[in-house]
Amino acid sequence: MLQSQIKLYYKNVTAEIIGEENGITPEQLKSLSEKTSPLIGKLNEERKAGKTPYRDLPFNKGISQKVKQLVDGLKAGCENLVVLGIGGSALGNIALQTALNPYMYNLDDAQRTGPRLFVFDNIDPAQLASFLDWVGDKLDKTIFNVISKSGRTAETASEFLIVRKLLLDKLGPAGCKEQIVATTDANEGTLRTITDDAGYRCLEVPDGVGGRFSVLSAVGLFSAAMCGIDIDSLLAGASDMDARVSSEDFYKNPAAINAALNYHFYNHGKKISVMMPYSFHLKDLADWYRQLWAESLGKAKDLADNEVHIGPTPIKALGATDQHSQVQLYREGPNDKLFTFLQVDNFDKNLTIGPVPDSAPELQYLAGAELSTLLNNEKKATEYALLADKRPCLTVVFDRVNAYTIGQFIYLYEVTTSFAGALFGINTYDQPAVELGKEATFALMGKAGYEKLAQQIQPLTEVDGDFLV
Ligand code: PA5
Repeated sequence: MLQSQIKLYYKNVTAEIIGEENGITPEQLKSLSEKTSPLIGKLNEERKAGKTPYRDLPFNKGISQKVKQLVDGLKAGCENLVVLGIGGSALGNIALQTALNPYMYNLDDAQRTGPRLFVFDNIDPAQLASFLDWVGDKLDKTIFNVISKSGRTAETASEFLIVRKLLLDKLGPAGCKEQIVATTDANEGTLRTITDDAGYRCLEVPDGVGGRFSVLSAVGLFSAAMCGIDIDSLLAGASDMDARVSSEDFYKNPAAINAALNYHFYNHGKKISVMMPYSFHLKDLADWYRQLWAESLGKAKDLADNEVHIGPTPIKALGATDQHSQVQLYREGPNDKLFTFLQVDNFDKNLTIGPVPDSAPELQYLAGAELSTLLNNEKKATEYALLADKRPCLTVVFDRVNAYTIGQFIYLYEVTTSFAGALFGINTYDQPAVELGKEATFALMGKAGYEKLAQQIQPLTEVDGDFLV
């Protein structure tokens, strides 16, 4: 096992720190461990039985080899890589890029280790049009990675059809084919059919792996490897975390403890879960987590079909930025939140704060300090202030941010989600509530077979002038 392990620190959720009314007591933690411990074995068994295939991704050498082969063939001629996808087919790609490449990656050739990366996970025409105007004369040096497990997702399909037409118009059928990499289901779905028919290069979304659990498959690995991210270290981090989150000892298993504490606080009035990284690199991991947590745990029914309407609401905040936006509410508003800070002990780059002019002696305390020291002290200060108001705070501590620790974090939170779903007694892996909105879109766009739904929708979507002010 490599050295740098991320850690979960949980003392600041205990009654010892924030009192019995809001914190967890030793007796409650003990009973939580008794409830959660049997689930460790259960999840390990389910994994062995092939019911959670996302857990095998870090060990699947076939996927990373295929990704690397494709990258070897494409990287030299590629100046821009464009990901077309949404939800689980985009959030992991964005999170990896923000976490592991420099802030100025796209703009500064000296900081770039691969093509510029653009991820379109929305269908705002002004946004995409602006990009297409820019990329128009560089299409032959631009690879479009369309990612969709189903292929029928309207947002991704429409972006793809716009890009395909542009490529056909400008480069012709043979040229168009060269610029597309499709990532989709191995055997079925609309994008699979299109891909097979057109002969695009392709990668697979593994069977049984839902979008939000797919970042460690070709879905996330291809754009990462194209952009110079060390995917072997990423997967090594995840596989080393696999050993920790498989431990049958509750107190040594960070996913089991993390899930159990989240479950406990949800049941004790903290229905909102705020993830607050103190690192720009980690900010989009909080977005990735938001989807993972919300789609996996927000469910109407439990496994016994009882109506439960369960699910903690995940919120993303960023330190120190949101201290000046959210912390007033977090301290003085309702005590209904569990906070999870992400803290980085060693930043790869640091800056020293300059000397203070004689006219501003009150800034003298900053002079000569490192910026990372200020950022981390602000994290401690915010946590202290929240604890003063009896708000429970967890921290995930990164020794440093690199592919190995990011791999650990991703896997830790995926398995934490599995534990949380098991504790809530719900199906963690489906998302039935997303369907109705998708179908309503089909109806509103005039898709055949959705005429009746279109009629049902009309009275609710037509604007009633009496209510327009
Ligand atoms: O996590 C999920 O399953 C979803 O967020 C999907 O990833 C998202 O809806 C996109 O689906 P698809 O990959 O089929 O286009």
